[in-house]
Amino acid sequence: MARNSSSRTLTFTLTIIIITIISSSHQPLALNHTPRFFGKFASSTSTIPSNSQPQFDFHYETKFFQQQLDHFSFSNLPTFPQRYLINTQNWVIGSGPIFLYCGNEGDILWFAQNTGFLWEIAPKFGAMVVFPEHRYYGESVPFGSKEEAYKNATTLGYLTAEQALADFAVLVTDLKQNLSAIHCPVVLFGGSYGGMLAAWMRLKYPHIAVGALASSAPILQFEDIVPLETFYDIVSNDFKRESSTCFNYIKQSWDEIESKGQSSDGLELLTKTFKFCQKLKSTEELTDWLESAYSYLAMVNYPYPSEFMMPLPGHPIKEVCRRIDEGPAGTSILDRIYEGANVYYNYTGEAKCFELDDDPHGLDGWNWQACTEMVMPMSCSKESSMFPPYEYNYSSFEEDCFKNFGVKPRPKWITTEFGGHNIHNALKNFGSNIIFSNGLLDPWSGGSVLQNISESIVSLVTEEGAHHIDLRASTENDPDWLVEQRATEIRLIQGWISDYHQTHKAVFDM
Ligand SMILES: *[C@@H]1O[C@H](CO)[C@@H](O)[C@H](O)[C@H]1NC(C)=O
Ligand SMILES: *[C@@H]1O[C@H](CO)[C@@H](O)[C@H](O)[C@H]1NC(C)=O
Ligand SMILES: *[C@@H]1O[C@H](CO)[C@@H](O)[C@H](O)[C@H]1NC(C)=O
Ligand SMILES: *[C@@H]1O[C@H](CO)[C@@H](O)[C@H](O)[C@H]1NC(C)=O
Ligand SMILES: *[C@@H]1O[C@H](CO)[C@@H](O)[C@H](O)[C@H]1NC(C)=O
Repeated sequence: MARNSSSRTLTFTLTIIIITIISSSHQPLALNHTPRFFGKFASSTSTIPSNSQPQFDFHYETKFFQQQLDHFSFSNLPTFPQRYLINTQNWVIGSGPIFLYCGNEGDILWFAQNTGFLWEIAPKFGAMVVFPEHRYYGESVPFGSKEEAYKNATTLGYLTAEQALADFAVLVTDLKQNLSAIHCPVVLFGGSYGGMLAAWMRLKYPHIAVGALASSAPILQFEDIVPLETFYDIVSNDFKRESSTCFNYIKQSWDEIESKGQSSDGLELLTKTFKFCQKLKSTEELTDWLESAYSYLAMVNYPYPSEFMMPLPGHPIKEVCRRIDEGPAGTSILDRIYEGANVYYNYTGEAKCFELDDDPHGLDGWNWQACTEMVMPMSCSKESSMFPPYEYNYSSFEEDCFKNFGVKPRPKWITTEFGGHNIHNALKNFGSNIIFSNGLLDPWSGGSVLQNISESIVSLVTEEGAHHIDLRASTENDPDWLVEQRATEIRLIQGWISDYHQTHKAVFDM
């Protein structure tokens, strides 16, 4: 791909715009407090940084499979084209495993590019690599267009995790048939929501997949299974561990912003301090913009430079805190906060001003999912978090969802369908072959499985890891703990595959 500086600038500018859209859209408060994974950011190909994996060169074919719109009824609905990427170069024909990445809420190319681990280990396993896209995202859109698909609650009704899992199951079954690979074991991979899908798919379709690597998969972030403050407390601790003064400056900044905003030319002043291209309409716009930056920084707090969300240095929170703290005595809190935000929004130094555009179309699949099944309640604690205190209010969340989509959420459906309460007891006897991997710097780790459940449902926890870092391509700068974590994952996956072959052979010999 051409990588001249103008395309780089363009990509970067788009990135800035998309990010500001996420943080500034005038969503009602309750929806704002539903942190997302990387939903909006990953929703369009134009946001894929062309240089996000410079050392990594993967090859694939792009194919489309006519997929059933509704797996759970027999009405005569149209099918839709589901995109999948496939590479069979390393596949040991007829017997090598199939590595299936469970596509999450965005363009599948973006996830393929940021899941280097899977591509890197495929040759060692003689594995085929398949990346099916999640329905309603990227190019896998029903009803002919995104506009039609996202029109109303009826057309969006087929956007569920259950349908997505059924898509993967149907697709891989058909693919095995086509490639005469019926007896090839399928291993599932996924990160974030994709990791949740991988774990759930292993539980729902044990006859289709032999095991799942579910990285940063917060399958317990539902109802009150984990304390509601967990997510924002982890973000806050990521800052506190770097510097308690930094944490305190951030904690104090919200009142500062509010009181500035009250004064007659306050919004003007804030707009200038933070170099927004357009005048702020409310202090909330600024607050949201900062809150998103801090939350995303916690997710991508990787030990080496990365461009997953934005071009960032290694240990980006350390850098943010360095800039917040380093101003000479007398530097105002807001000037410090601006310097910190600059690390996230302007690390390359190329942003002239920051955009705060609205998203007029609201073509946003994750908000729909969050308003139906994926109800992940969260609060901000007054004491332990650095964020403005916020108490989760289900009624107002429900009102917002009804306003936006004309639907009422079903907050208990996911735990009814997939479990979550007393997960240890439930899975100990009935599940097997799942790796839950988590880095404790990742705010989503708080809603994930952090303890070993059984011999084959294991949790790999790294103190210094962030959001599904293990799935990323290896780099020269990988710390030892990461190299070890990946080696353990490879060993466990090898175990699943050889168990499968032994059992299969035993049956065959009979
Ligand atoms: C949604 O749009 C479709 C297609 O235009 C229409 O048939 C359906 O009645 C609409 N449903 C609702 C709930 O408005
Ligand atoms: C399997 O082959 C059929 C017939 O060529 C094709 O329509 C279908 O899309 C293929 N399945 C997959 C998963 O590619
Ligand atoms: C981005 O960083 C550059 C270099 O530090 C600086 O000159 C510029 O003003 C910054 N842009 C914004 C919007 O703050
Ligand atoms: C929660 O939201 C509802 C609906 O907006 C509102 O009536 C109620 O006062 C709120 N409860 C609290 C404790 O803020
Ligand atoms: C779970 O067991 C594995 C060995 O299978 C071990 O490496 C890992 O540290 C254990 N995880 C936890 C959280 O104790």
